[in-house]
Amino acid sequence: MSDATVFPVPEDLAQNAWVDEPRYLEMYQQSIEDPEAFWAEHGKRIHWFKPFTKVKDVNYGPGDVHIRWYEDGTTNVCYNAIDRHLPTKKDDTAIIWEGDDPSEHEYITYGQLHDNVSRFANAMKARGVKKGDRVTIYMPMIPEATYAMLACARIGAVHSVVFGGFSPDALAGRIQGCESNCVITADEGLRGGRKVPLKANTDKALESCPDVDTVFVVKRTGGDIDWNDKRDVWWDEACAAADKECPAEEMKAEDPLFILFTSGSTGKPKGVLHTTGGYLVYASMTHKYVFDYHDGDIYWCTADVGWITGHSYIVYGPLTNGATTLVFEGVPNYPTASRFWEVCDKHKVNIFYTAPTAIRALMREGLEAVKRTSRSTIRLLGTVGEPINPEAWMWYHQVVGEGRCQIVDTWWQTETGGILITPLPGATPLKPGSATRPFFGVKPLLVDNDGKPLEGATEGNLCISDSWPGQMRTLYGDHERFVQTYFSTYDGLYFTGDGCRRDEDGYYWITGRVDDVINVSGHRMGTAEVESALVAHAKVAESAVVGYPHDIKGQGIYAYVTLNAGEEPSDELRKELVTWVRKEIGPIATPDMLQWAPGLPKTRSGKIMRRILRKIAENDYGSLGDTSTLADPSVVDDLIENRMNK
Ligand code: WT7
Repeated sequence: MSDATVFPVPEDLAQNAWVDEPRYLEMYQQSIEDPEAFWAEHGKRIHWFKPFTKVKDVNYGPGDVHIRWYEDGTTNVCYNAIDRHLPTKKDDTAIIWEGDDPSEHEYITYGQLHDNVSRFANAMKARGVKKGDRVTIYMPMIPEATYAMLACARIGAVHSVVFGGFSPDALAGRIQGCESNCVITADEGLRGGRKVPLKANTDKALESCPDVDTVFVVKRTGGDIDWNDKRDVWWDEACAAADKECPAEEMKAEDPLFILFTSGSTGKPKGVLHTTGGYLVYASMTHKYVFDYHDGDIYWCTADVGWITGHSYIVYGPLTNGATTLVFEGVPNYPTASRFWEVCDKHKVNIFYTAPTAIRALMREGLEAVKRTSRSTIRLLGTVGEPINPEAWMWYHQVVGEGRCQIVDTWWQTETGGILITPLPGATPLKPGSATRPFFGVKPLLVDNDGKPLEGATEGNLCISDSWPGQMRTLYGDHERFVQTYFSTYDGLYFTGDGCRRDEDGYYWITGRVDDVINVSGHRMGTAEVESALVAHAKVAESAVVGYPHDIKGQGIYAYVTLNAGEEPSDELRKELVTWVRKEIGPIATPDMLQWAPGLPKTRSGKIMRRILRKIAENDYGSLGDTSTLADPSVVDDLIENRMNK
C-alpha cells in the first residue's frame, strides 16, 4: 500500500457532519493561535456549578511541572453524565447491556441509571467511603461496573478500575499502589462461556491488603464463593437498603476523578491520575467530534472498562453527551465469529469502535462470518490501541463497512485521557494506516534523539508541545516519577514514548513504542514486569523480554530465560514458566515464545543489549549491528542457533 491511496470524504457525510474540512482547518487554527480563548469557549460544554474564570495554568518545565485547567470552577462528573439529561432524556436508553450469552440483554434508561448509581453511592457512604477515598473496581463488563464508577464520581471518591483479567498479585499491587480500603467486585465474571473467579481472586489479593475493610460483591453467576461477614457486602442488599437520592458532591475542577494503572518501561505499573473538569470537557468533546456523534445514535465501543478506552469512550464521554452506549460482556468470537456484527444488527449500532487485534482475528475467520450479517445501521468505524496495518484497515473498510463507512484510526494513550491524533469523519481524507491529523488544540512535534525538532516530512520521536484539558496531572503518589518519565527526556515537551513518521501532507503515522513497552493485542506491557515475574520463579536466574511482530496480536512476547546452575531446560519447564507468568500477572502477559539462553548479550558493564535480542526475536539476525562491545560475543551465536521464531 503506498501513501498515495487516499479515501476522500464522501460528499453527503461532509454536509451532515459537525465539521467539514474547511471548518476543521479553521477551528484547528483558532485552537493553536489562541488556546485560552478556544478552551474557554469549549469548557462551557459541560455544566459547572460554579463557572471557571481561569482556563489554563501549565508548566512543562523547567521548574515546577504542573498542569491545571479550569482551576477555579466546580462541577461533578456524575451530574454531567446523568442528572443533566434527566429533564429531556429520563426515559431514553443510556446503556444497552449485551451479555456474554446472546440471549441476555438489558436496556437501562437515564432515569434508571440515576437511581441505580445514587443507591450504590449511598451504599458506599453507609460503609464509610467518602470524598477523596480510593476505591478499587475489579469487575466484569456488567452494568454495575459503570454504576460503580459513576457512584464514585458522584460522591467524590477516586476510582481505580483494575481489568478483570489481572491476577490476584497484580490486583493486590494496584490496591496497595493507591491505598484503597474499598473493593468492588462480582462473584464471578463470564467471558466466552467461561467463568472468571473474581471474588476468589479478590480474597487472595486481600491477604496482602489488610487495610481493605469493605468488599461489595455483585451476584453475577451465583457460583460458590467464600464469605467474610465483617468485610463482604452483597451489592443488591446494600442497594436495597439505600435511598435513591444522593446529591452530587461539588468538586473542584482539579480534584482527582480516577487513577488507572498502566505499564511503563521500568519498575512497577504507574498510577496515572486524571482529574475532573478538564478530563470531562476533553472526553466528551472528542467523543462528539471524532465519532461525529449525533443525538439518537447508538454507539458501541468494545473495550473493557479496565482500560482508559472504557473510561473515556464507554462511560464518561458518551454519557456526558447523552448518548446510548453499549456495554458488552463477551468476546468477539463467542459463540461464533459473527458476534460483533450480530450485536450491531440486534441493537442497530451506528458507531462501532474496536481494536486492530480484534479486526485481524476476525479477518482470519473469513468473509462468510461477516457477510451473513447486515451491518446496515453502521455509519462509522473506529480503531484504537496499536498501529493498524493497511491490510486490516482495508478489510475493515471494504468488508465490514462495505466501502460506505469512514474509518477513524484514533491515536492516544492512558496518559492523554482522550484522543489526540485522529481523522474527523466529515473533514479528513483517509490514508489506510495513518492516524492522520491532530485534534483541536493538540500540537504534535517530532524530535530526533537529541531533542532537535524536525520539520516537514520526517520521522522521529513523538512529543506534544502544549497541554490539552484531558492530560494526566501526575502519577499517584509519585510526582517525581511523572516529571522524570514524561518531561525529562526532551526539555519542555511531553514525550509519548512513540515513534512516528509525518508525510508530505502533514499526516502522522505512528510506528510503535520506542521504549521498553510492548503492545500486545492493544494492551500495554512493560518488558520489565514480565522479566520480574520470570525471575521470581525459583529455577530462573535471569531473563530478558522483548516484543516481536505477531500476525494477530501486533506484538508477541518473546522471553529469553537463563536457568539457575544445575537446572535442566525441558518442554515441561517451559510450560511451567509460561503458566507461572500468567498466574503472576494475568493471561495478557503470557509469553508467546520462551527461549533458553545459557547467557544474555551484555556489555562489559553488564547492560543487556536488547537491540540484539529484538533482532533475533524478529528473525532478522542478518543485521545485528556491532556486537564487538559485548562481554561475550559468542552468546549471540548460541541464541541465533536456538531461536524459537524460525
Ligand atoms: C499506546 C498507548 C489509548 C487507548 C488504548 C491504548 C499505542 C494507541 C494507537 C493508534 C498506533 C496506537 C501507542 C500508544 N496506540 N492507539 N491508533 N495507532 N498506536 O492505551 O495502553 O495507554 O497504550 O498504544 O503506542 O503509546 P495505552
